[in-house]
Amino acid sequence: MADALKVGIAGLGTVGASLVRIIGARAKELSITCGRAIEITAVSARDRSRDRGVDLSGITWFDTPDAMAQEADIDVFVELIGGAEGAADTSVRAALRRGLHVVTANKALLARHGMEFAALAEDKGVLLNFEAAVAGGIPVIKALRESLTGNKVSRVYGIMNGTCNYILTRMEKEGLTFEDCLKEAQRLGYAEADPAFDIEGNDTAHKLAILTTLAFGTQIAADQIYLEGISNISIEDIGAAADLGYRIKLLGVAQRTDSGIEQRVHPTMVPRDSVIAQVDGVTNAVAIESDILGELLMVGPGAGGDATASAVLGDIADIAKSRPGEQRVPVLGTPAKALAPYVRARMRSHEGGYFIRLTVADRTGVFASVASRMAENNISLESIVQRAASQTVAEARDSKTIILVTHATTEESVRNAVSAIKAESYLVGEPQVIRIERPKAF
Ligand SMILES: NC(=O)c1ccc[n+]([C@@H]2O[C@H](COP(=O)([O-])OP(=O)(O)OC[C@H]3O[C@@H](n4cnc5c(N)ncnc54)[C@H](OP(=O)(O)O)[C@@H]3O)[C@@H](O)[C@H]2O)c1
Repeated sequence: MADALKVGIAGLGTVGASLVRIIGARAKELSITCGRAIEITAVSARDRSRDRGVDLSGITWFDTPDAMAQEADIDVFVELIGGAEGAADTSVRAALRRGLHVVTANKALLARHGMEFAALAEDKGVLLNFEAAVAGGIPVIKALRESLTGNKVSRVYGIMNGTCNYILTRMEKEGLTFEDCLKEAQRLGYAEADPAFDIEGNDTAHKLAILTTLAFGTQIAADQIYLEGISNISIEDIGAAADLGYRIKLLGVAQRTDSGIEQRVHPTMVPRDSVIAQVDGVTNAVAIESDILGELLMVGPGAGGDATASAVLGDIADIAKSRPGEQRVPVLGTPAKALAPYVRARMRSHEGGYFIRLTVADRTGVFASVASRMAENNISLESIVQRAASQTVAEARDSKTIILVTHATTEESVRNAVSAIKAESYLVGEPQVIRIERPKAF
């Protein structure tokens, strides 16, 4: 049998500790499948005295990930620290420069430095694997990077943040407010103490930027993503969506268009009977539409120590099975030097249309005025209904709610129509605008 693959793990938190435990528990099976043993020889974290519930005896401890990357007797550097800068950045950089293989679960790091790291890994002839960075345990990186080779992808989209999906699911099922659901998610450990990164959509945007590059062969462009989070989704929106046959999900969507690639993250209404609408709680889902295969949908655990460690372990096993110097697959699906510059798509018609909710004064002529402002902006309406305003809207007295669903139209037209309505004296509170997305096959 070949020599053992020596692994160093930086970060022994939720994912790192799971990984140490699983590699220890499955040592025999791994050595048979990989044709060589996988051995953890080095670890690093901040606090050496912390009990992590795993056996670290016989493993060399390093006080800093940088020192481990530079000095440890390892073949693979596994980064499970997190964050785009600081120790994760400097240690991964040092490991690649030293010619070590790298495995990471860190989407923020890849969204920021992925281009540079991919070029460095390719230059050094080492592997940089990151299956766990997008949708946790779901093998979406491998699907795009390897299995769909030769396909022309037209759209990739999904639910990629468990915290947001948990909150939206609880709001709908229990009728709780956004704030209550967020507190609950924090209590259960799903959301960070500072949850802004999840609920404002940044985490989904990082994952989407990585998928875009793999799907379309373009350079990573995480700063070119239209971003809108879920913090202003109300129970009224969820109720109105349900009445119209939709559910609200935070989707990341990347799409090929005639003028470039569109990348957007925002709350989205999806038909209630679509499969993606059934994806509840912390579960993730990623759909890929491509010309040869057709539509593919993967649903599974998007987070959690064991599910994420499963993806990290798959990446380590791939390295164990590869021959020295072999780079079977480019890091980002396409060699870093051959990735095309990212061209942002021009604003175009949103095929699914829009949902618009307005709270207006209960006066005659308002309904007709709203319809006129839409028509003036060439927006054709699929439906327009009037409801009594919900009691939870502070200004609800003497007001009513108008719900509009548009046919395909441009963002610009919707914005113009909404500003024209905002200039009218009858509007009470902020209008709500949510895009509707219709999955092709699911
Ligand atoms: N948790 C998930 O479900 C999940 C899912 C997908 C991807 N990920 C990604 O996996 C990575 C790890 O996540 P996690 O949830 O396991 O994080 P975590 O529980 O917060 O653990 C982070 C670990 O990094 C160590 N660390 C932090 N700063 C350090 C520094 N400057 N020097 C040395 N060690 C440092 C911490 O050390 P101490 O323990 O000593 O404080 C801790 O062991 C992140 O990139 C995350 O985005 C996580």
